[in-house]
Amino acid sequence: MGHIPYAPKAFELKEPNGFVKMAVPADNPLTVAGVNLGRHLFYDPILSRDSTRSCSSCHLQDHGFSDTLSISTGIEGRLGKRNAIALTNLAYHYTNFFWDGRAESLEMQALVPIEDSLEMGNTWEEVEARLQQHATYPVLFRQAFGLEHIDDIDRGLVAKALAQFERSMISADAKFDRYLAGEAKLSEAEERGRLIFFDESEVLPTGECSHCHIAPLFTSLEFFNNGLDNTDRPLKDGGKWTVTANPFDMGKFKTPSLRNIALTAPYMHDGRFATLEEVIEQYNQGGHYSKNESPNVRPLGLQAHDKTDLIAFLHTLTDTSYLHRADLSNPF
Ligand code: HEC
Ligand code: HEC
Repeated sequence: MGHIPYAPKAFELKEPNGFVKMAVPADNPLTVAGVNLGRHLFYDPILSRDSTRSCSSCHLQDHGFSDTLSISTGIEGRLGKRNAIALTNLAYHYTNFFWDGRAESLEMQALVPIEDSLEMGNTWEEVEARLQQHATYPVLFRQAFGLEHIDDIDRGLVAKALAQFERSMISADAKFDRYLAGEAKLSEAEERGRLIFFDESEVLPTGECSHCHIAPLFTSLEFFNNGLDNTDRPLKDGGKWTVTANPFDMGKFKTPSLRNIALTAPYMHDGRFATLEEVIEQYNQGGHYSKNESPNVRPLGLQAHDKTDLIAFLHTLTDTSYLHRADLSNPF
């Protein structure tokens, strides 16, 4: 492969105003060729054992890179265990990927679905062999990573390329962002919803939402028990507890971002709620009491119009340009 020129060009990230500057791992800088390779891998079913499922089978661009099923299905219709998380602004999460935080980095996360028997059901040896023998991937890997030998194509580089592509998945052009930039006006309902969400009004009830769903990412990146189930008894899915075995972590899950939330139904780690109305009603009632339930989840006293206004505000987090960005779409 040595005859194909290797001249990596830095990928120019458009970092949004108001976001902290992204720190990219020193051993995996974003390059145009690396992001392009990652995009091809993300959309290619070649990674799954029977070549039927790609990352994009469960992470759909039209839905903010989440799934429309409560529980995603892998190869041969196998039912997984959790709801697919919307992939947005992950470069700013740095660590604690998955609902239970078990993957330390995007590079480590990317290794998991391929060998997960309920997702892509493949082995890395098989994936490496397929990519090494492929008609076009060796060239793409050479351009991205400057390899000398086809044998150098391995899982580590696949994971790096996927992580580069994911770091380019930035969503920050919602109506709410344009409102912050002084370029859009919120409707009366959206503004009331905003005040409830951020606890900013003296007269309206406080939603307490922004303690955990902090702007601009709309997540604090922390793990909470937000009252979905009483955790005095062991849960079907213990969340963070499955990683730490600490009883205090029972039923705690990673706080998901609310960007594009109007499009990422169904909701929660098990997709138990079909609509935002159900989500808001759950919070309004204060959830189910447990010793480790966050004190910020408590009966809120929202009236019917407070709830619809809160939902109107959540709709201002939809970033249509993200759903249509050509460079994030299927390259095949
Ligand atoms: C069969 C469906 C399915 C496939 C295929 C799939 N995912 Fe996922 N993805 C999920 C589910 C479900 C979760 C949540 C799982 C969990 O938390 O245990 C998830 C979580 C993630 C996360 C964590 C996001 C966060 O905020 O912590 C990332 C990143 C991700 N997937 C990327 C990928 C990539 C890259 C691929 C392809 C290599 C892929 N996924 C393939 C269903 C899928
Ligand atoms: C104590 C922290 C906390 C507070 C307060 C909180 N949330 Fe959450 N939120 C979470 C966590 C954690 C999850 C994921 C729980 C799970 O799936 O088990 C979540 C999930 C959600 C989801 C589903 C997201 C998805 O992708 O499935 C929505 C929508 C949501 N919250 C909206 C709100 C709104 C609106 C408020 C205010 C009324 C609020 N949250 C208050 C922590 C919080």
